[in-house]
Amino acid sequence: MLKRVFGTAFLAVMVSMSGASAQRQAPQGPLVQVYKSPTCGCCANWVKHLQDNGFATRVVEFDDLGDIKAKNQVPRSAQSCHTATVDGYALEGHVPAADVKRLLKERPAVLGLAVPGMPIGSPGMEVPGVKAQAYNVMSFDRKGQLTVYASH
Ligand code: CU
Ligand code: CU
Repeated sequence: MLKRVFGTAFLAVMVSMSGASAQRQAPQGPLVQVYKSPTCGCCANWVKHLQDNGFATRVVEFDDLGDIKAKNQVPRSAQSCHTATVDGYALEGHVPAADVKRLLKERPAVLGLAVPGMPIGSPGMEVPGVKAQAYNVMSFDRKGQLTVYASH
């Protein structure tokens, strides 16, 4: 009996602790809906990067993201691990939070931004001890046209 009461109290503490940290990690910024595969760790690191920069996030896991990428008209050559949407735009791959903020402020006539592939050093793709690669953030439009939006 004592053990059981103890167990319940412990559980209550755990729940309130996780509640507190969930509150801390729930920023008020724009909501980014992220589609990722359940096994992808770098995607989770990118989600953390967005949260750290004030974005609210919601993650949906799919084994096959082909349909999501097609629906968001992500050009084949711009594809990466995860796909996301925010306020009418698509985001493909490890797009830095600062570029997402600029996108939402400037609101250019494009479908979204993409970081093709998974360049080392892009947000969520940092590898300790490995030098960051130079990479471009590309915008893409309805015609599948890719244009450099930012260089890092
Ligand atoms: Cu990745
Ligand atoms: Cu990813």
